[in-house]
Amino acid sequence: MERSLGIFLFVVIANLAISHLAQAQSQEGFISLDCGLPVNEESPYEEESTGLQYTSDATVIHSGKTETIRANLESGFVKPLWTLRYFPEGRRNCYNLNVEKGRNHLIRARFAYGNYDGLDNGPKFDLYLGPNLWATIDLRASNSTRKEILHIPTSNKLQICLVRTGLTTPLISALEIRPMGNDSYIIESGSLELFLYRYYLSESSTAYISFLEDVYDRQWRPYFLKEEWTQINTTSKVGNNNDYDPPKDALATAAIPTNASEPLTYEWSNSDNPNASYYLYAHFAEIQDLRANDTREFNILFNGQQYDGPLIPKKLEITTIVNSSPRTCDGRKCSFQLTRTDRSTLPPLLNALEVYTVIEFPHSETEESDVIAIKSIKDAYKLNKIDWQGDPCVSQYLMWDGLNCSISTNISTPPRITSLDLSSTGLTGTIAAAIQNLTQLEKLDLSNNKLTGGVPEFLGNMKSLTVINLSGNNLNGSIPQALQEKGLELSVEGNPMLCVSDSCRKSPKKKFPLAIVVASVVGAAIVIAVLVLFLVIRKKKSTVVEGLHLLPGASAVNATFANKSSRRFTYSEVVKMTNNFQRVLGKGGFGMVYHGSVNGYEQVAVKVLSQSSTQGYKEFNAEVDLLMRVHHTNLVSLVGYCYEGDHLALIYEFLPNGDLKQHLSGKGSRSIINWSTRLQIALEAALGLEYLHVGCKPPMVHRDIKTANILLDENFKAKLADFGLSRSFQGGVDSEESTVIAGSRGYLDPEYTHSGRLAEKSDVYSFGIVLLEMITNQPVINNQSTEKSHITQWVGFQITKGDIIDIMDPNLGNDYDVNSAWRALELAMSCANPSSSKRPSMSQVIQELKECIVCENPRIHNNRGLESQEMNVSLDTAVVPMAR
Ligand SMILES: *[C@@H]1O[C@H](CO)[C@@H](O)[C@H](O)[C@H]1NC(C)=O
Ligand SMILES: *[C@@H]1O[C@H](CO)[C@@H](O)[C@H](O)[C@H]1NC(C)=O
Ligand SMILES: *[C@@H]1O[C@H](CO)[C@@H](O)[C@H](O)[C@H]1NC(C)=O
Ligand SMILES: *[C@@H]1O[C@H](CO)[C@@H](O)[C@H](O)[C@H]1NC(C)=O
Ligand SMILES: *[C@@H]1O[C@H](CO)[C@@H](O)[C@H](O)[C@H]1NC(C)=O
Ligand SMILES: *[C@@H]1O[C@H](CO)[C@@H](O)[C@H](O)[C@H]1NC(C)=O
Ligand SMILES: *[C@@H]1O[C@H](CO)[C@@H](O)[C@H](O)[C@H]1NC(C)=O
Ligand SMILES: *[C@@H]1O[C@H](CO)[C@@H](O)[C@H](O)[C@H]1NC(C)=O
Ligand SMILES: *[C@@H]1O[C@H](CO)[C@@H](O)[C@H](O)[C@H]1NC(C)=O
Ligand SMILES: *[C@@H]1O[C@H](CO)[C@@H](O)[C@H](O)[C@H]1NC(C)=O
Repeated sequence: MERSLGIFLFVVIANLAISHLAQAQSQEGFISLDCGLPVNEESPYEEESTGLQYTSDATVIHSGKTETIRANLESGFVKPLWTLRYFPEGRRNCYNLNVEKGRNHLIRARFAYGNYDGLDNGPKFDLYLGPNLWATIDLRASNSTRKEILHIPTSNKLQICLVRTGLTTPLISALEIRPMGNDSYIIESGSLELFLYRYYLSESSTAYISFLEDVYDRQWRPYFLKEEWTQINTTSKVGNNNDYDPPKDALATAAIPTNASEPLTYEWSNSDNPNASYYLYAHFAEIQDLRANDTREFNILFNGQQYDGPLIPKKLEITTIVNSSPRTCDGRKCSFQLTRTDRSTLPPLLNALEVYTVIEFPHSETEESDVIAIKSIKDAYKLNKIDWQGDPCVSQYLMWDGLNCSISTNISTPPRITSLDLSSTGLTGTIAAAIQNLTQLEKLDLSNNKLTGGVPEFLGNMKSLTVINLSGNNLNGSIPQALQEKGLELSVEGNPMLCVSDSCRKSPKKKFPLAIVVASVVGAAIVIAVLVLFLVIRKKKSTVVEGLHLLPGASAVNATFANKSSRRFTYSEVVKMTNNFQRVLGKGGFGMVYHGSVNGYEQVAVKVLSQSSTQGYKEFNAEVDLLMRVHHTNLVSLVGYCYEGDHLALIYEFLPNGDLKQHLSGKGSRSIINWSTRLQIALEAALGLEYLHVGCKPPMVHRDIKTANILLDENFKAKLADFGLSRSFQGGVDSEESTVIAGSRGYLDPEYTHSGRLAEKSDVYSFGIVLLEMITNQPVINNQSTEKSHITQWVGFQITKGDIIDIMDPNLGNDYDVNSAWRALELAMSCANPSSSKRPSMSQVIQELKECIVCENPRIHNNRGLESQEMNVSLDTAVVPMAR
């Protein structure tokens, strides 16, 4: 009968051996493994003489190799023994079987060497049941053997293990498990190992009796002492219905002593195991037709001592006699005797006999939850450890390598795993969650692997854990608070991505406000935009600024983007607001700047970005989003943008007094501004820059500080323009100062060319150049002079001459405080120091400029600018810059 392999596998896993039609019920719970049988070809098959359904063992063991016995020897063995599994690798190899916890099971292991390896040298090895030694298998003297036990598993998992004890290779041919009845073979403690064989007394038969006659597939062998005994038999059916249910056929014959006056005696040698204790199961049934005046009555003795009787066997009905406590034998011989009573007219009779020795299994299995946890850790890491089979903790010399266990002397306390060392085992993936189920774990070593992901919170909650070594992995994130507070020995060095400092330990809390932002749809868009920007910046690593953290403070995000949609303009709106780009305000680093007005009165500066920008919309949008959040009274506010097809524009607040460069040069009909105003402008520009560096979250580096980027409002208040743009809007045309990578020629931090990194101190350098320009009104780069081409060289040269008048802008007409001028010059030169570490911070610059202003103040005549104001309209744009 064909059966699909799929069903077969299910059946094995579910531990339900489906049987052939009529036998479907009777084989329930049977496990019949023909070890070494190829999965596909013959498995499952029905054994001829019994009808038992044998399957391959491939699904219940994952180690070992398969072989067949020598073909010429097959006839000497039954089919389940023709193939075998042998174990050339590993010390302990185990079958994992599903059984019913607490139920008695007959477990039978069969071994046939059959010279499978051609060495003609049978092996010797140990057989374990779970953590306990069951038997030593010796195939050197006999070509086959079997072990059979009646055992009550303490869990639903049963492990049967073969353990190498010498040079020879363990093997197994068949494994048979039969669940037994509830009320039979119950003893005080231990399990029952079948001693020699289970006999039925018959001289006329040579046949084993087993399944189907025996519902539990016990095997009964005929036995008879020809001289001493005489056989009696019956063709009538003998009632076998009791807790033991021996086969009817085993009861249909019996032995009586040949000399009717003698007792019936069965003896065996005890010399192999003088300490053994025995249980005997003797089955009786009267199978002779007795005359009315006949009586068969006898006593039952063990080693000469009576333990049951007198017994009168029931006619064609079973009686099973069991010793209620285990019996030991004093001498080298054990004897079982039936002696007729005085009133008995007939000799005693015996139909069948089972003799078992008690086998104690002292080691309890490792706590089941620990076993499940360690196995799931093994699975999680796909650990291919051949020795990780059988019980993890016991016996001690078979304990899994990498584990240590606590093993109590009290056998009702199961062993627990206390230490797990998986260092240098090539682990990948994250730290396995199942570790938390090793609740008694004290020491965990996962060092020198390739573990990724975070350090899990649960490690901090494991009560017994005192030592953790996670060093030499690729873990990231931070150390959970619970773990920090626990005060255990924790090693995490050698995880480059893992943050161990205080600051990042708080990082999970930082995420919290972000989560609130995400709650609104608008907020979600921002988070995405900022993250995109973050990625863009990360990509351009050469210009990444130290300390530039781009996760925004949530409050700023909420405040700024409440009415974000109103800040996006269509191209036609841009055309309208600029009156078709009528009035050019200037030409910036990234394109033309036009005058415009919104709602007819709000003046704006519209920067139309050149098409050479290769940015995508997302990047543009993200950057704009970021810039729109930056507000300071000394920074030009971005009030809107346009992104439509090829049209990109940024819309800023309009500053009527143009830029500082124009005023210094007098170009664009700008006036020359006085020294006091210049100091004030310098201070305000410094304040704007300081805000970018330290006040802004995230901090920003301007990257392109120059006089052309310092704009002046109607009151000559200075505002920095174009911050945050050079990063992504490179490649714009600036005819006068070509933009090199980032920043403008002459203003660019010389250290930047070496380090390739722009930091706050680079802005300080540029600011120093601006300050020098304001003081001297010299060109930043003088193409006429080769020696003193840069303004710092020119000033340096002039300082050696010592005359401040030769240095100062002649346009100022000596209208300045000399002390104030010297101080400003010194400050400018320190800002422009080639070494960034020697430059002051912007906060120090501000302090110093304030003192310059104090020096100058007595001379102030309260006239800030010399130029009349072009416009008197207040810039009440949608964005009101927030003062710090
Ligand atoms: C084992 O089998 C071999 C044949 O391989 C035979 O010669 C030998 O007698 C057998 N030994 C026993 C103890 O049955
Ligand atoms: C054995 O006992 C269990 C409960 O302890 C019961 O579920 C089961 O049916 C019994 N089996 C037999 C064969 O009596
Ligand atoms: C008992 O067995 C013998 C030998 O097999 C047979 O000849 C005899 O008829 C049997 N007796 C009964 C009563 O069945
Ligand atoms: C039978 O046993 C009794 C008592 O042991 C003995 O006296 C008698 O000689 C025996 N009979 C035979 C025939 O051996
Ligand atoms: C039998 O038991 C005694 C005492 O308990 C012990 O000394 C002896 O070693 C045991 N013998 C065997 C073979 O186990
Ligand atoms: C039992 O009864 C039979 C006759 O039925 C007789 O031949 C025999 O002697 C009696 N045996 C005894 C011990 O009384
Ligand atoms: C287990 O304990 C022994 C003795 O205390 C120690 O030598 C060994 O290193 C420990 N093994 C592990 C994996 O901790
Ligand atoms: C062994 O442990 C069990 C349960 O854990 C407890 O009831 C028993 O008293 C202990 N026995 C000894 C000798 O400590
Ligand atoms: C830990 O054990 C519990 C209870 O046995 C189980 O439900 C859970 O899935 C286990 N956790 C892991 C991660 O294995
Ligand atoms: C952690 O493991 C590494 C590498 O195996 C080892 O060098 C280090 O000594 C261990 N640390 C502790 C505290 O055991």
